Amino acid sequence: MKLAVLALCLSAASAFVAAPAGRAPTKVAAAPAAGIGGDLTGKVAFVAGVADSTGYGWAIAKALAEAGATIIVGTWPPVLNIFKSSLDKGKLDDDRKLSNGGMMDIAKVYPLDAVFDTPDDVPDDIKANKRYAGLESFTISEVAESIAKDYGKIDILVHSLANGPEVTKPLLETSRKGYLAANSASAYSFVSLVQHVAPIMHEGGAAVSLTYIASEDVIPGYGGGMSSAKAALESDTRTLAWEAGRKYGVRVNTISAGPLKSRAASAISTKGEKSFIDLAIDYSKVNSPLNKDLYADDVGASAFFLLSDLSRAVTGVTLYVDNGLHSMGMAVDSAALNDGGSLPVPQRV
Ligand SMILES: NC(=O)c1ccc[n+]([C@@H]2O[C@H](COP(=O)([O-])OP(=O)(O)OC[C@H]3O[C@@H](n4cnc5c(N)ncnc54)[C@H](O)[C@@H]3O)[C@@H](O)[C@H]2O)c1
Repeated sequence: MKLAVLALCLSAASAFVAAPAGRAPTKVAAAPAAGIGGDLTGKVAFVAGVADSTGYGWAIAKALAEAGATIIVGTWPPVLNIFKSSLDKGKLDDDRKLSNGGMMDIAKVYPLDAVFDTPDDVPDDIKANKRYAGLESFTISEVAESIAKDYGKIDILVHSLANGPEVTKPLLETSRKGYLAANSASAYSFVSLVQHVAPIMHEGGAAVSLTYIASEDVIPGYGGGMSSAKAALESDTRTLAWEAGRKYGVRVNTISAGPLKSRAASAISTKGEKSFIDLAIDYSKVNSPLNKDLYADDVGASAFFLLSDLSRAVTGVTLYVDNGLHSMGMAVDSAALNDGGSLPVPQRV
């Protein structure tokens, strides 16, 4: 619904751009309603990191499906069977419903382990692991080859995955192994996906990943080298935008999303205490300029913008989709502020 409103507003765009005083208006190509770039019919989107309907990957897939894209996903082998069986048994049907009354169809689920680039990288213990049994091609290069075989060239790449085995440990206690594992799964995986998928993308295609504000500001509790991985992901976004832009005409952006109670985020918790993600959600709502709940669909809508031609001249950006929390330099609910003074907090009229 919200997407339809956005498309309507944009389709009314004038063919002339208002000029600064003293200069003639610039004529730009008129954008016919369907041609402004919001229609993804006939486009293929690969969303890596979908295993249930609670996370950002699902919400992005849904926003793209609303606009007509064909959705294919990459799912981590340890959760592949449970995801496929949830789909087959109709357990996700409510979440597949589209605003036009149809259902989001996931055209193909590819097993994908984004810490491996080629079959040679896969160690024996993974080959012998029962959750990988019978799967032949789950490394990034193999998945890209399978997609090319099935669909030829595609248009959209989404990286919505992360993993930090020591995420609950402060950086001061994080091992080298844990730090490198977080960076391998959460940052290099995007570099590798762009390396292998951009060559099978149409010129004008776009890639998006998901990052978190812990990359630039300290977020206590988001440990294990995950903050470092997100910093790398954001820096790589700019370099990949340059390289993939020049080499393939593909755009690369990242969304710095606010907190969401996804399965991955729920894992960042210490037993018996209010979880990291519950605290982060409460803090965000109280302290953000837009003090409202943040929904996965909010991120889905912004991702749709970054992945469609609506943003055809946007690349290399980190777009905050967090109700504005990133812009705050002070927590308005800090206990320190209750000590006699008061801050001017604007009230809704
Ligand atoms: N939830 C939040 O509060 C939040 C905030 C900002 C950014 N993000 C980012 O959003 C992205 C999606 O996470 P989410 O929170 O929606 O949770 P999610 O659980 O929906 O997604 C994470 C996915 O990563 C997959 N995964 C883990 N290791 C993998 C591997 N080696 N290969 C392939 N897939 C693997 C998991 O199976 C899961 O499907 C992540 O990059 C996360 O860091 C999340």
